[in-house]
Amino acid sequence: MANYTIMGHPLIRHKISMIRDKHTGTNEFRKLVEEIAMLMAYEALRDLPTEEVEIETPIETCMTPMISGKKMAIVPILRAGLGMVNGIVTLVPTAKVGHIGLFRDPETYKPQEYYCKLPDQLDQRIILVVDPMLATGGSAVDAIRYVKEQGGKNIKFMCIIAAPEGLQNLMAAHPDVHIYVGELDRCLNEHAYICPGLGDAGDRIFGTK
Ligand code: PRP
Ligand code: URA
Repeated sequence: MANYTIMGHPLIRHKISMIRDKHTGTNEFRKLVEEIAMLMAYEALRDLPTEEVEIETPIETCMTPMISGKKMAIVPILRAGLGMVNGIVTLVPTAKVGHIGLFRDPETYKPQEYYCKLPDQLDQRIILVVDPMLATGGSAVDAIRYVKEQGGKNIKFMCIIAAPEGLQNLMAAHPDVHIYVGELDRCLNEHAYICPGLGDAGDRIFGTK
């Protein structure tokens, strides 16, 4: 079974088309990334475990399922992954949030680590590593390796746009990690940017250049 899912939902596809547009400004871009992340998380968290709890309705007492949000961690890859956090936290407000700081060396395109801080009890959590862009896959491969070294076992990865090269590399490096992709694009260009892509996700979310 392939360990990735391409979303294919018209609402997600529509919003991704909007963030591709170079005329979409920072404020709207940020809001759309949050919305896309929320819609994607709805699907990616379909198998969150639930536990039966006792609830008193106005009619009677019953046992009914609720999720245990304490068991979840969201791990954005800085910077651009930060733009996805609020959308997911809207769905699971009790999730813990860790951070992994990586940037791509502009010459080699290899990820360079600059900050890591993860929640405790990682081995007991469902961990959602998020980054809008999966280009060569180097950043996601390294981030997930780090999460595993810190004890993470049940890991999912969510990106808004992937290149085929990145998807292949990530699947080969971490075959146990299910990958959720908003749109699978055509290829990488000579600067390892995704085509057609949306440009530099971090710059577009934070208004830098
Ligand atoms: C971008 C993006 C990913 C990475 C993807 O981050 O947000 O983290 O590149 O590329 P890869 O798959 O080839 O590793 P960038 O390094 O530009 O840092 P930023 O988020 O701080 O802008
Ligand atoms: N990082 C980005 O932000 N965009 C790309 O197309 C590739 C890497």
